Amino acid sequence: MLAEATQAEPPEEAQPVLWVRDLKAHFRTDRFGIKRVVKAVDGISFAVRRGEIYGLAGESSSGKTTLLKAIVGAVRPPLEVVGGQVDFAFLAGYGGLHRAPPAEVARIRWRHLSYIMQGSMNVLNPVRRLRSAFVDFAYPHIGGSRRQFEREVVAHLARLKLDASVLAAYPHELSGGMRQRATIALATICRPDVILADEPTTALDVVVQKEVLGMISSIRREIGSSVLLVTHDLGVHAHVSDRLGIMYAGRLIEEAAKVEIFRNPLHPYTRHLITSLPRIGDDVSREGLVGAPPNLADPPPGCRFHPRCPLAMEICKCEVPAMLETAPGHRVACFAVNRSEEA
Ligand SMILES: Nc1ncnc2c1ncn2[C@@H]1O[C@H](COP(=O)(O)OP(=O)(O)OP(=O)(O)O)[C@@H](O)[C@H]1O
Ligand code: SF4
Ligand SMILES: [Mg+2]
Repeated sequence: MLAEATQAEPPEEAQPVLWVRDLKAHFRTDRFGIKRVVKAVDGISFAVRRGEIYGLAGESSSGKTTLLKAIVGAVRPPLEVVGGQVDFAFLAGYGGLHRAPPAEVARIRWRHLSYIMQGSMNVLNPVRRLRSAFVDFAYPHIGGSRRQFEREVVAHLARLKLDASVLAAYPHELSGGMRQRATIALATICRPDVILADEPTTALDVVVQKEVLGMISSIRREIGSSVLLVTHDLGVHAHVSDRLGIMYAGRLIEEAAKVEIFRNPLHPYTRHLITSLPRIGDDVSREGLVGAPPNLADPPPGCRFHPRCPLAMEICKCEVPAMLETAPGHRVACFAVNRSEEA
């Protein structure tokens, strides 16, 4: 994938459709009397605007999947939402789907909010043909006669370059790329307001990856959905995201328009991510980051990046830096950056 950031669809100054406010989702485990709390999502706030692709990046175990689970209300023990709230433009009054009654969740899922899970090819039941998945998930929302519904499904599959014959297939009869396109078709057929996509292209080869990303972009354009796209692959974000949020150890540490993040990364961790991207014709060796990402069951106090940060100061070891806006639309959680902005 390309590491160059291309200007995607200009994000219109649209109203948010999803707000996450100071969200905290922890895993509480108790094995053989040993209690552990993994602070996988620990005080995250951001908003996704109508019609935009908001990309979330961060290394493995930084909490990306846990954040999506908390947003979609897939919160079962040992995961618990211990603070904050999630609000949608299409659902008032609960502060999160994890607090909404099951009937309300069923009304929202697929129709207003759909979720392409990490390893989502597993969503498809291996012993049922694809047609059954569309009937189970989408028919209750779309309704009408079954013949009319099937026509609509076939037209939608065609948008994703899938032939109607896939409806009669079992998941194992399709290639990885076709299964992923079928999953995207399922997630988009009800024209949801928000699509959460967790590493939707990671298991695919580069050519199919590009094709699937192009399809996510054009479906978004056509049906006007917002997409919250999670992937650790900055090349993918460079290709399709409008804005980018960078996560580190359960927290959001920087957010800006995608082009701004690539051109002017401010947080030391984001700078490391961007400068370590391979560039064609560049044979300069780059220094790696010292140390390892923290254990979220026992994270360092203060800024969680401080044990690895070349700019760390005393304050970083004991206080948590707030996300502050350093330029319009560019927020960063770093004492060094925000102090130099103030100076
Ligand atoms: N069921 C669980 N019980 C306890 N801890 C868990 C559980 N699932 C995930 N975690 C922990 O929560 C933290 C965040 O995990 P998460 O899967 O959200 O990360 P991620 O950013 O999606 O990683 P990846 O890029 O590998 O998909 C990790 O420390 C992980 O070990
Ligand atoms: S707050 Fe301190 S430790 Fe954290 S990134 Fe900024 S300078 Fe580094
Ligand atoms: Mg994940």
